[in-house]
Amino acid sequence: MTIQTVRGTKDLLSDDWYKFKYIQDTAHNVSRLYGFIPVETPILEYTEVFMKTLGESSDIITKEMYTFEDKSGKSITLRPEFTAAIMRLLKHKKLQIPVRLFSSGPLFRYERPQKGRQRQFNQINFEVFGLADPRSDIELISLSQHLLIKFGINDNAKLEINSLGDNETIIRYRKALVSYFEKYTDDLSEDSKNRLTKNPIRILDSKDKKDQLIIHDAPKIDNYYTKESLSFFDKILNGLQCLGISYTINSKLVRGLDYYCHTVFEFVTQDLGSQGAVFAGGRYDTIIAGKYTPAVGFAGGIERIMELINFSSKEPRPIYLIPIGAQAEVYSLVLTDKLRKSRLYSRYDYDSTLKSKMKKAHQVNAKVALIFGDEELGNKTFKIKDMDTGTEEIIMRDNIIEKLELLTQDSRITHSR
Ligand code: HAM
Repeated sequence: MTIQTVRGTKDLLSDDWYKFKYIQDTAHNVSRLYGFIPVETPILEYTEVFMKTLGESSDIITKEMYTFEDKSGKSITLRPEFTAAIMRLLKHKKLQIPVRLFSSGPLFRYERPQKGRQRQFNQINFEVFGLADPRSDIELISLSQHLLIKFGINDNAKLEINSLGDNETIIRYRKALVSYFEKYTDDLSEDSKNRLTKNPIRILDSKDKKDQLIIHDAPKIDNYYTKESLSFFDKILNGLQCLGISYTINSKLVRGLDYYCHTVFEFVTQDLGSQGAVFAGGRYDTIIAGKYTPAVGFAGGIERIMELINFSSKEPRPIYLIPIGAQAEVYSLVLTDKLRKSRLYSRYDYDSTLKSKMKKAHQVNAKVALIFGDEELGNKTFKIKDMDTGTEEIIMRDNIIEKLELLTQDSRITHSR
């Protein structure tokens, strides 16, 4: 029996690999236009990094973390998200705020795998620390939209937004929800019953059919906003209007993590079934090293973006060597070495006949074939065959690099530094 990948994980091959890299590179390049600094945190973190931040009622904490004890008995967790780890980094490295941090990489959640949902998945993640101004929320939403446009999927995803208000709003709203939901305790799902004591706002997120009937008449948050919360939210909505970003206010959008306040948003698509959030995030003003630290961020799921974008990688076309005779075979090794070190993609095969070499040159979609036998070695020349037109020409050995550079201009491997 062949061994398969772990449930909810995937291999990445060729075209998908390029697509994946394209998304990461594009996100990084766009992040630089907004002043983000790239950072990388370890995949392994002490469990408390997440326990202290994500909230005891979040699905991640209650059922989804990959947690184990290492050989020294320390509790370790494979990171289920970036935000808590980036907060740890900010504190640990004593970074000066304001600061904008970009990261990307794999995350792990023990969820039921389905289209757009894996147990090992990847995010592009953006966090801004030290800016309390609502313009930072607007900038981030606009950055999400910028990425959607870059990926050519802006028409597939719509912005949903809500505000959870400030601390006072959240306390008042929680109280109102508890007194409403307590009347239906016996009818609520087990998850919602638990949330009633831990974080009643999260009940609004329930997908349970019976819960949804009860939620329908639950108090709405707009009646509980403080003056400051309302003004903050208004500024954000005005900013979005100025930028021409259309949105829908979804008062049930509360997000699955407990750290949010004020702005929460998601760009949601209908094209991925039930896993529709492509980008998601919000504000999570927090205490870091005993100091109030405003923070706002979002993350996009790379696998979800991959499902949506049209992408085909342009495969580079090789120069194919066709040596004829023993001496030419030996010279091939030296020649390919020289070509590759001159950044020219070149290939040849060992031990095959002239006929099969020609066939192979077609199979690998070579741009040109370089043909040389004893005669060419003696004259210090090569015969170059253009594989598209079939025309052949003789070139002096000394001029070969320049000539090949010219011929393969539009079909080369590009190197960036
Ligand atoms: P999240 O909503 O848990 O938020 O995840 C953000 C995005 O990651 C989702 O919208 C989705 O595209 C992708 N995603 C999440 N889980 C999976 C999965 N199992 N398989 C595939 N893709 C998935 C956060 O992670 C927050 N830390 C975002 C944030 C940053 N908030 C503030 N700053």
